[in-house]
Amino acid sequence: MGMTDYTRHLSTRSRTSRESAIRRTGDIAASRADVVSLAPGFPDPDSFPWDEVRDIAASLLTGGDRSALQYGPTRGYPPLLAGLAEIMADRGIRGGTSATVTTGSQQALDLCARVFIDPGDVVLLERPSYTGGITAFGNAQARLVCVQQDSEGPSVAHLDEALTRERAAGRRIAFLYVIPNFQNPTGMLTTLARRHELLAWSSSRDVLIVEDDPYGALYFDDVATAAETRPIMADDQDGRVVYLSSFSKTVAPGLRVAWIGAAPALISKFEVAKQTADLCSSSLDQRIVYEIWKRGIFTKRLPLIRQCYRERRTIMEQAVCSEFGASVTWIEPKGGFFLWVTLPEGIDTDALLPRAVDHGVLYVPGSAFHVDSCDPRTARLAFSAVSHQEIRTGIGRLASAVREELDAGPSAVSAMMAGSSSAARSSSAGSKGSSRAPGSAGG
Ligand SMILES: Cc1ncc(COP(=O)(O)O)c(C=O)c1O
Repeated sequence: MGMTDYTRHLSTRSRTSRESAIRRTGDIAASRADVVSLAPGFPDPDSFPWDEVRDIAASLLTGGDRSALQYGPTRGYPPLLAGLAEIMADRGIRGGTSATVTTGSQQALDLCARVFIDPGDVVLLERPSYTGGITAFGNAQARLVCVQQDSEGPSVAHLDEALTRERAAGRRIAFLYVIPNFQNPTGMLTTLARRHELLAWSSSRDVLIVEDDPYGALYFDDVATAAETRPIMADDQDGRVVYLSSFSKTVAPGLRVAWIGAAPALISKFEVAKQTADLCSSSLDQRIVYEIWKRGIFTKRLPLIRQCYRERRTIMEQAVCSEFGASVTWIEPKGGFFLWVTLPEGIDTDALLPRAVDHGVLYVPGSAFHVDSCDPRTARLAFSAVSHQEIRTGIGRLASAVREELDAGPSAVSAMMAGSSSAARSSSAGSKGSSRAPGSAGG
């Protein structure tokens, strides 16, 4: 096998897509049993409702309801759609919002790309932003324009500057993509005031907002409240917001069930786009998630899940503090899965990665979440899928790798960059539209 040269058979998009540096490192890590991976944004498998899913699946698979394994409507299992309306109402989103189920929010991002983006159109994003969004929009040949965040969220002044510049150059703005609740990768919570400003701005400038909210239910109640996670969509009067959410982090990501909430006219467009993507999301998965919600299991488990991640956040913050002291800073996560750290001066997290793997720890370098330049000292550390002991071990190993790297000095760093990690650097260097989703399955 492998005699045919496929180059001329591939689409331009496929030819120009590149392998993810992080995924490559993930392969290295997978070959080493003792690596602590702080890289993937996976939920804790102990948080999955195993017993409940087993019972529900067993009753669904008796064959009594022939539709459980049949094709279903593209927009989704109707009782689940009614449930989604209730979940959105609980989050403050007004009635009249329509919904379609999607196969994960990742499909929702892809559908947004299909429905809104022509090649060359501008997508405005936060800097940094979620790799899965960057990839989905980049693959649709969008021009990705990133906007700095301050302590409250994406800067409206910078957004307006970018919009004015891009429109003056004759470009169309497809939408603004934001993750206001415990952003992937920074863990940042956009303030309510900033959400209102963003909405007012989008209305005055006639821009759509794609609001991606997989983590909103996972606030840490020692530092945040449910009220602070109120979606931008909840105050949207004129159908400007497209709301994305998912059961991946609150039930289980292997049940690929998520949804889009939007004005009915847009949901029809998403429905048509979804028909060619997959006809419908898994009928069985949708029924399982529906039963989990209808039986009250979803709501009942949320406090436990919040508690689990809150504890892991605390353990990781303590570990970073005791291993690094003041030489490392981070954004205090008020929910979600991630600690976004800035390592000491002189560290480049892309170049450090092979050494970190040698020490038995894996993370995602900050460059993976950028489409342009970034602070090379940044990295995303996920505390969601690792035990307390693994967190302590992993952070200890990261500290040894950092010390060794600093001791080795700039010459050793540049030698490393020229050697083993050069591929990693080049493939993560600001390649717009390439497929470089780090640890990608499950962001
Ligand atoms: C911000 C964000 N959006 C979307 C997704 C995709 O989630 P899923 O496709 O499992 O719903 C993730 C996963 O990590 C994410 O962090």
